[in-house]
Amino acid sequence: MSAPGARLAGRTILLGATGSIAAYKAVDLLRRLTGEGAEVQVLLTRSAAAFVGPLTFETLSGRPVLSDPLELLPDRRIAHIVAAREADGIVVAPATAHWMAAMASGLAGDVITAACLASTAPVVVAPAMDAGMYAHPATSANVARLRSFGYRIVDPETGPLASGLVGPGRLAEPASIVDAVVSALADPPSGTRRSSPAGRDLAGRRIVVSAGGTAEPIDPVRFIGNRSTGLMGAEIARAALDRGAEVTILAGNVSVALPSAARVVSAPTTADMRDAVLALLPGADVLVMAAAVADFRPRRASATKLPRDAAPVLELEPTEDILAEASGVADGLTPRPVLVGFAAETGSLDRAAAKARRKRVDLLVANDVLEPGAGFGVETNRVTLIAPDAAPEPWPLMSKREVADRLLDRIAALLAPRAPHNPAAERVLAPNVALSPPAREDV
Ligand code: CTP
Repeated sequence: MSAPGARLAGRTILLGATGSIAAYKAVDLLRRLTGEGAEVQVLLTRSAAAFVGPLTFETLSGRPVLSDPLELLPDRRIAHIVAAREADGIVVAPATAHWMAAMASGLAGDVITAACLASTAPVVVAPAMDAGMYAHPATSANVARLRSFGYRIVDPETGPLASGLVGPGRLAEPASIVDAVVSALADPPSGTRRSSPAGRDLAGRRIVVSAGGTAEPIDPVRFIGNRSTGLMGAEIARAALDRGAEVTILAGNVSVALPSAARVVSAPTTADMRDAVLALLPGADVLVMAAAVADFRPRRASATKLPRDAAPVLELEPTEDILAEASGVADGLTPRPVLVGFAAETGSLDRAAAKARRKRVDLLVANDVLEPGAGFGVETNRVTLIAPDAAPEPWPLMSKREVADRLLDRIAALLAPRAPHNPAAERVLAPNVALSPPAREDV
């Protein structure tokens, strides 16, 4: 085990505390996890919140505590599911006999069991309870069942207990729990995923990802838009950050949360996005055009709101093909940045290979947005990867995060022979640039 320091830098850990008197020790654990560089999201059961108030955890973690399994984020996604997907590891400390029984049975009645069920990240459980409860065969069976899930159990210590008895049941020392978390992330049990499938293989790489749909103004209120939410681009950004990349998101019209560790540049129209892409490409290792860019825009946007009785007929003109233009610019750069396009097709992917050739991309991710589970506003995608001179590779239905991870495996392989721009670079934490979403009245 390496010495304490920044052993969890760049990792997101869910810290779940359940209703034991030892819940106060979760505060110390939180401080130690953040001291190791982790971003910590605290989850409290209702009874844990009766022992230690959420305010303490919120102040120390800098994030709102989750304690209601029904809680939604402002973008209407389910908070604990999003947390579960983002987590590199989960630690439940203290874990009561009741919580372990619920978890062993897969009962998702509280926010921590629900998050554990929804996550494939390694889980560390540190029980704390009265010695008699710990010794009961029911508890032993539940602990054994949790171990069979691949969960790492940090055995409780022997000592004076809140009941006045002396015996095994005291929560392990927070330092030992942190060590268990570090070790679980470094060597995850089979069946759980690594915190990042390939470690920090994108450290020092600069990745520009466009996300969301562009919006072409008709007048100051209305625009021509599309159904893209930005989720695929956000997941690529998140996955790239997890692998150590410096990430800039060019945000069109997005309706999902963007990772706070990315630099976000607002690019509401195709023209804005083109300018941003061409400005950033020379310093980038990779451009991923996940945005749904409008192909047409009104030839003239009205400076004032069009009245209903104007009965306008919109004259449209084609927009710039940003990716094709970026390809031309990339030809003059050494090394040529890796260019990745997306192609949203309907009904068949027959046009995708020709599109990849026309735009001269290194990789094209094509999907049929009419297929169930693929396309706009859903958490999953079924894509086919197209690379020049290779047969199209259909990938199975998977979450957008998994598509992002797999795509980054391919991008990392293309980058591997090249030196990073800035080999010493650590992740640059830049605050989100405030986004000014255009008016959301579609036509
Ligand atoms: N794209 C772009 N600029 C545009 C349109 C699309 O850079 N004006 C990018 C998209 O971000 C995507 C890729 O090109 O990465 C393919 O987009 P798609 O809409 O599928 O292709 P189009 O060029 O628009 O072709 P078509 O409308 O004929 O399908």
